[in-house]
Amino acid sequence: MSLIEQTENAGVVQLTLNRPEALNALNSELIVALGSALESLEARDDLRGVLLTGAGEKAFVAGADIAEMRDKTPEQARYFANQALVALKRLETLPVPTVALVNGYALGGGCELSLACDWAIATDNAFFAQPEVGLGIIPGFGGTQRLPRRVGPAMALDLITTGRRIDANEALRVGLVNRVVSLDERDATIDELTKQLSRNGPNAMRDAKRAIHDGQDLALDSALALETTLFALGFTGEEQREGMSAFLEKRKASF
Ligand code: CAA
Repeated sequence: MSLIEQTENAGVVQLTLNRPEALNALNSELIVALGSALESLEARDDLRGVLLTGAGEKAFVAGADIAEMRDKTPEQARYFANQALVALKRLETLPVPTVALVNGYALGGGCELSLACDWAIATDNAFFAQPEVGLGIIPGFGGTQRLPRRVGPAMALDLITTGRRIDANEALRVGLVNRVVSLDERDATIDELTKQLSRNGPNAMRDAKRAIHDGQDLALDSALALETTLFALGFTGEEQREGMSAFLEKRKASF
C-alpha cells in the first residue's frame, strides 16, 4: 500500500496521506513520499488543483512522528525539519490552487501541513493544535512562521504557548480554515470543489494565485503593478477570448 494515494479527476489531483495506523503521523518516509509526489506534479501544465487529505475518518495528520523524533540529535532534528520544510515549500509553491481537507486531528506537523496549503476546509470532527511545547520542543515544520501569518501573532502565540486544542468551529472563527462541513458532506465537497477548479480558466487561476502570493511580499503599489501586468498578460492567450466569447454566446466556456 502506498504512503501517498493519488487520485485524479479533470486535472484536480487528490493526495491522501496514508499511514492510518499512526494517525498519518509524518515520519521521514511519509515526508519523502509526499515531497516526491509533489515534485512530480510541479512540472505538469495540465494540473488544475491539488487537494490534500488524510486516510480514515479520525485524523488528517496527528503530527510529526514522535517515536522517530525522540532519540534524534540536534543535527538529525535539523535534517528532519529541513526534509519537511522542503516538502511543504513544494506544496506552497505549486502554481495551482491547493486545498487541505482536514478530516480529523490536525496536530503539530498536521496543522503546519494544512497551513502550507492555500486554504483549508475542515470536517466538523476536526481538531487543530500546536502541542509541541508539551513535548519540550517548538513547532518545526513552519508553525511559528505560517501560523502567525494566517491567524495573526497574538492568536499564534495563544495556540503555540498553551498547546490547546481548538475544534473546527473555532478554527473557522480564527481563520485557520475557510469552511466547515459535516463529515457526511466530505465527498460532495470534494466533488464540488473539483468541478469548480476544473471548469475555470487554468491560466487565470495560476495567475491569480501568483498575484496573491507574490503580492504579499511587496509594497501595495508594486503589488498592484504586478496585478496589472498579469491582468494584461491574460489578454495574450486563447483563454480570455474563449471565456468572454462563451459568456456573450450564452454557452459554457471550454478551457
Ligand atoms: N507520532 C507517532 N505516533 C503517533 C502520533 C505521532 N504524532 N500520533 C498518534 N500516533 C500513534 C499512537 O502512538 C498510536 O500508536 P499505537 O497504536 O502503536 O500505540 C496510534 O497512533 C493511535 O493513536 P492513539 O492511540 O494515541 O489514539 P487516540 O485516539 O487515543 O488519540 C491523538 C489520538 C489525540 C491524536 C493522540 O494520538 C495524540 O495526542 N497524538 C500526538 C499528537 C501530537 O503531540 N502531535 C505533535 C507531534 S510534534 C510535532 O508535530 C512537531 C513539529 O512541529 C515538527
